[in-house]
Amino acid sequence: MKEKYEVGHLIYDPTIYDGLNSDLSDLDFYMKWLPRDKNAHILELCCGTGRLTIPIAKRGYRNITGVDITTSMLNEAKVKAQKANVNVNFIEADIRFLELAQTYDFIFIPFNSIHHLYKNEDLFNVFAGIRKHLKKDGYFLFDCYNPNIRYIVEGEKHLKKIAEFQTSDNREIVIKQQMHYEYDTQINRIEWHYFINGEFNSIQRLDMRMYFPQELDSNLLLNNFNIVDKFGNFEEVKFDESSNKQIYICKKA
Ligand SMILES: C[S@@+](CC[C@H](N)C(=O)[O-])C[C@H]1O[C@@H](n2cnc3c(N)ncnc32)[C@H](O)[C@@H]1O
Repeated sequence: MKEKYEVGHLIYDPTIYDGLNSDLSDLDFYMKWLPRDKNAHILELCCGTGRLTIPIAKRGYRNITGVDITTSMLNEAKVKAQKANVNVNFIEADIRFLELAQTYDFIFIPFNSIHHLYKNEDLFNVFAGIRKHLKKDGYFLFDCYNPNIRYIVEGEKHLKKIAEFQTSDNREIVIKQQMHYEYDTQINRIEWHYFINGEFNSIQRLDMRMYFPQELDSNLLLNNFNIVDKFGNFEEVKFDESSNKQIYICKKA
């Protein structure tokens, strides 16, 4: 197994990240599954800049914790929480080695973040940590892509423009993408070519481990989770072969 996995620093430049990821179409879905009790203890793993954490806190959840490993992302999340006048407990930690003082009513890993767990061991460590921190009847939710071989093959053929936007600090960003899928590790070695204010800036690596549907189902069962439901999009259409996403609703077995 190759050991070097990478996510380039510009991928986690918080202002560029937020400019690129302004869509909140997953928020209502997660809101729907949150406990009704606003005092419930909520844990978001890989919370990043608080794209979902802060809107959830703004809707009255008082005990929400966000964990992330990237300092730049968490710093931005803290600034945004302060501006929004909400109280969120942000913790800098690696979710593969979770040791928190609290147990939770609801744990979630949104926005494809499990693709950054590159080895089976990483995924199993995260599942074990969630089992340890989730209350008996608590829910564990996450979403990720349904690997699309045709899309990956197309993505390997040429560099393609995937985004063009302006950041809140007035940088014009263009991102072009090229994929290189590794057939042994299931890691899509994605390159993002950044152009800032009309000039080429750099190539940033965005390695993403693909998880195939049956593989994820089995891994959850092996790690003593029951799959309560599995959807193919945030409108809760049942997962099937046409689904772009895998969205899991789980409980402890
Ligand atoms: C795609 S972003 C998602 C951020 C946020 N949840 C959102 O919805 O915008 C992935 C995040 O996962 C974090 N991350 C990746 N590996 C991690 C790990 N092992 N432990 C904690 N955070 C991790 C990255 O720092 C990044 O902020």
